[in-house]
Amino acid sequence: PFEEKVDSIISLMTLDEKLGQLNLPATGPITTGSSKSTDVVSKIEEGKIGGLFNIKDIKNIYEVQKIAVEKSRLGIPLIFGMDVIHGFKTTFPIPLGLSASWDMEMIEKTAQIAASEASANGINWTFSPMVDISRDPRWGRVSEGNGEDPFLGSEIAKAMVNGYQQNDMSANNTMMACVKHFALYGAVEAGRDYNTVDMSRVRMFNEYLPPYKAAVDAGVGSVMASFNEIDGVPATGNKWLLTDLLRDDWAFNGFVVSDYTGIYEMMAHGMGDEVAVTSLALKAGLDMDMAGDSPNISAAFIKNLKTALDNGDISINDVDKAVARVLTAKYQVGLFEDPYKYCNEERAKNDIYTQENRDYARLVGAESTVLLKNENQTLPLKKSGTIAVIGPLAKASNNMAGTWSVSTDHENCISVWDGLQQTVGDDVNLLYAKGSNVDYDFELEKRATMFGKTIPRDNRTDQQMIDEAVAVAKKSDVILATIGESSELSGESSSRTDIGIPQVQKDLLNALLKTGKPVVLVLFTGRPLTLVEESENVPSILNVWFPGSEAGLSISDVLFGAVNPSGKLTATFPRNVGQVPLFYNHKNTGRPLGNSEGHFEKFKSNYIDARNEPLYPFGYGLSYTTFKYGDVKLDKTSMSQKDMVTVSVDITNTGDYDGKEVAQLYIRDVIGSITRPVKELKGFQKIFLKKGETKTVSFTLSVEDLKFYNANIDFVAEPGDFQVAIGTNSNVELNKTFKLID
Ligand code: IFM
Repeated sequence: PFEEKVDSIISLMTLDEKLGQLNLPATGPITTGSSKSTDVVSKIEEGKIGGLFNIKDIKNIYEVQKIAVEKSRLGIPLIFGMDVIHGFKTTFPIPLGLSASWDMEMIEKTAQIAASEASANGINWTFSPMVDISRDPRWGRVSEGNGEDPFLGSEIAKAMVNGYQQNDMSANNTMMACVKHFALYGAVEAGRDYNTVDMSRVRMFNEYLPPYKAAVDAGVGSVMASFNEIDGVPATGNKWLLTDLLRDDWAFNGFVVSDYTGIYEMMAHGMGDEVAVTSLALKAGLDMDMAGDSPNISAAFIKNLKTALDNGDISINDVDKAVARVLTAKYQVGLFEDPYKYCNEERAKNDIYTQENRDYARLVGAESTVLLKNENQTLPLKKSGTIAVIGPLAKASNNMAGTWSVSTDHENCISVWDGLQQTVGDDVNLLYAKGSNVDYDFELEKRATMFGKTIPRDNRTDQQMIDEAVAVAKKSDVILATIGESSELSGESSSRTDIGIPQVQKDLLNALLKTGKPVVLVLFTGRPLTLVEESENVPSILNVWFPGSEAGLSISDVLFGAVNPSGKLTATFPRNVGQVPLFYNHKNTGRPLGNSEGHFEKFKSNYIDARNEPLYPFGYGLSYTTFKYGDVKLDKTSMSQKDMVTVSVDITNTGDYDGKEVAQLYIRDVIGSITRPVKELKGFQKIFLKKGETKTVSFTLSVEDLKFYNANIDFVAEPGDFQVAIGTNSNVELNKTFKLID
């Protein structure tokens, strides 16, 4: 609808102004690298900047917008992007935690609240959702995604895009979403951030691409290219990816932005000099250059595309296409209609961090926790007696929000200690000891300081700290060991080769266990951790991820049973890091292990020194109550291509509490023209059951649910047998079969 208007603006533009629209410099305090632009104001006046990102505060945004609109020759407004990833000031759990809620309505609402807050503060474009499938917990960015499953990941991608955009990007309380990182960034070799990716087309299409496609199908306005290569060509300059697949096959018609200095980084990838890499990116279909415009970055659209034009490497038509996409986006978010529509001081005062939003964050934080173990019903706790709150994370309010929480007021997030103080009442006596440091190295500490997330290092020896903690713990009836990863141990550029709880904290935990008091491990983490010892020795483990701004209240609600935990893991927890990558929807191989006990078998696909099974499988999570699944029923045993099969099961709440359960439908395509996974999630429903109540849960499967990409990358369903099950997690036996007939 904006084509004519866009064309007429383009017809007025000089080449400098055109390249300006493709320029997205880094300015504000939040940046992941050293690329900062200079002379921003004069560049805006000259029309050499298209948008800014991570610039904070409505006043600053208003001021620079005014310069663009009133002082630049054509008065084209700027677009303002930000990493609004899991909330704006009201902060929800990290995405991996949020995904564990398996609650699509809730997830959509968090995105909607994030949009309403950010858009009240000048932001109209968010670099979210991050939908990279990852099966490698060594990769720190698993915290930012939705786990390992393409089906669940696609549902979440859709919910997030809908939440941010609300089908109307021009409304003043919505923002344009940007699905990232396109594509396959979660499959970096060895889990090392920014590393190489290499994968077959079959795997890519079946296992990694679906969530990006779901976001595109949901109408996402923009896409961010990933740092990694695909088939040997970095995504930033990959024409097959950005044009043939994204635009031609998937019919995406928004714009594509690079990741931070992604164009420049193609020189280090070995793709050529400054002019070569900028031309490559533009011709591949990349429209906007993030953070290229900086004195220390030599390859940038703004610096090199003129030469590329003179050399004949690109045409003016290539430039115009990209400019048209960026201008169209500005029309879509309503900036030409009113450049200040996101700068309303009243809204900024009234719509951000409201009690209503915070209450919702409290609920979401609780709904995202995953109960990993609860021996002897240690949880829920009673609101009486003495509770020892021990651990370096107990009072660390600035570590409650986790990674990519650039607008969070970290100091004022509610710590576990504060949350308990506010909720336990007079009959509970709370005691505290720090017990250990987190275990930072110097670089990490520097970074934590930069993001306001430092947990001040205690200068006592480890033993002195443990001794104090044990003395405190001995006075208690129950110990809350509030330990795990601090914020900066996961997230971008936080890959780890040891994915256990840091040793100093393990030592503390062991000392607490030796007191003989019941211990509840309140586990903070941004990734699946290896927890074999803890799962053997600690009676109760509640995984809280990083719950967000209301963390302490969310956690207290779960600990005392106001909220019965119902989260389920969306990423497998391995037994040891050597098993990684480990995921439920793997292939069978020609030599699967023949015994269910998991002991070693020679010449079978297994390990000498560890079992194949994970510690906690995909979909796993306990409740304070128990659920019993009846026999799975099918309404038919064969279906045609036009038919549907209904699969149902009765689920009964057999325990002592009301509670929610996520029923999960898995299938296996027994024989295929290519090998098929041993299990695939094809449906889920989160239901509420009162104590003693039974409900029937039904799923319908159509031929669309049975399709996959074959060796020719055709999306087909092949006739034959399909096994099916509905269970409480992915470790369920597929014991019913139906047939798809021609
Ligand atoms: O959006 C992020 C991206 O996920 C990683 N690099 C920096 C971008 C902008 O901050």
